[in-house]
Amino acid sequence: MKIDLRSDTVTKPTAAMMQAIINANVGDDVYKEDPTVNLLEQRIAEMFGMETALYFPTGSMANQAAIKLHTQPGEQLICDKYAHVYNYEGGGVSFNSGVSCKLVDGHRGMITAQQVEDHINPPDFYHSPLTTLVCLENTTNKGGGACYSLDTFREIKAVTDKHQLGLHLDGARLWNALVATNQDPKSYGEIFDTISVCLSKGMGAPMGTVLIGKNEIMKNAIRVRKVLGGGMRQVGLWQQQDYMH
Ligand SMILES: Cc1ncc(COP(=O)(O)O)c(C=O)c1O
Repeated sequence: MKIDLRSDTVTKPTAAMMQAIINANVGDDVYKEDPTVNLLEQRIAEMFGMETALYFPTGSMANQAAIKLHTQPGEQLICDKYAHVYNYEGGGVSFNSGVSCKLVDGHRGMITAQQVEDHINPPDFYHSPLTTLVCLENTTNKGGGACYSLDTFREIKAVTDKHQLGLHLDGARLWNALVATNQDPKSYGEIFDTISVCLSKGMGAPMGTVLIGKNEIMKNAIRVRKVLGGGMRQVGLWQQQDYMH
């Protein structure tokens, strides 16, 4: 038997998962009428102690939507030089949001509160872009799966609060970080304004990412998802709750 180790995204649904897909209770998610997706969103929001959640087809789209929700054209976000949002989302930060990235030379894709502080442009210096958002990644992809400590996140949050910046987490592989560090998902809900979590990187899970966040920031999320072409119809077919661990 050959085992394909290229990626965590090549695992196939098991027979029981396929059976669950056949039995799935579905509806039109563009009208928010897919009971399985609604349940999934509710469940993930509760898991992280966050107010609201929205299902997206991909992690890239969820990140791009979050960046759009947090920023205005011409503004700048801070992220590590290895960040997925900068390197692997096709330049979507500038294409979708008209935003530039200030890159931090972090360690294995992780940055510190001091580095964030050092990379904020002075808001009254109108020659440089206005810094409005910090994007972190956990676990880090190009950083080789490194995980942040909650203390570092809290220190970064103190800086973003002080400077009134948004704080988004690309949590494509947050599940792995939670298992590796034994952290409580609710701690993340207390720290971040928005978090994307991929289902597609779970064992055998076919697709999807959920963006969770505060109501205030998420209120236009469904509109942004529509604009990006991410409103899908009977998508609950792929989201059987029994297989979310
Ligand atoms: C850190 C990180 N963010 C976002 C994504 C994007 O996910 P998707 O492939 O669903 O767009 C990935 C995918 O590998 C990733 O590793």
